[in-house]
Amino acid sequence: MEQMMGRGREKEISADKIRELVGRAKEQLGLAYAPYSGFHVAAALLSKDGRIYTGCNVENASYPAGNCAERTALFKAVSEGKREFSCIVIMGGAGGRVESYCPPCGICRQALREFCRPSEFFVILARSEEDYRIFTLEELLPESFGPEALI
Ligand code: THU
Repeated sequence: MEQMMGRGREKEISADKIRELVGRAKEQLGLAYAPYSGFHVAAALLSKDGRIYTGCNVENASYPAGNCAERTALFKAVSEGKREFSCIVIMGGAGGRVESYCPPCGICRQALREFCRPSEFFVILARSEEDYRIFTLEELLPESFGPEALI
């Protein structure tokens, strides 16, 4: 039987799926374009229909024009018609060496909030296939402002 993991989130994400997502993020890490910060980040976003969308950070000589890994993955998915997501794996580090957990920035938390129910979407900060921490988006972005507020 497939092994299930996560602090009380056993039903939602399998360890095998997390392993697959971390594998995809690891591959993506090599594509990060970060000549200015030297900090490479990768993300693997799982849509509810089971597809995986990867993304990396893409910096720019005009610094604010750069984009984070999480939003790269999210915008790829949304631009291909996906609007419902289960979880995202994030990993990164200086020079692409993953030593610590890499939490998403505030802008990425808000961008993800647009397309999920905060209590049901999981943000997985990974150092490897076996070493990760799982949060709900609600834990990382409490009392959030979302599309319902404007409808
Ligand atoms: N970065 C991400 O890609 N995701 C985050 O959530 C945090 C920061 C990138 C942006 C920039 O290219 C580099 O990491 C340093 O801030």
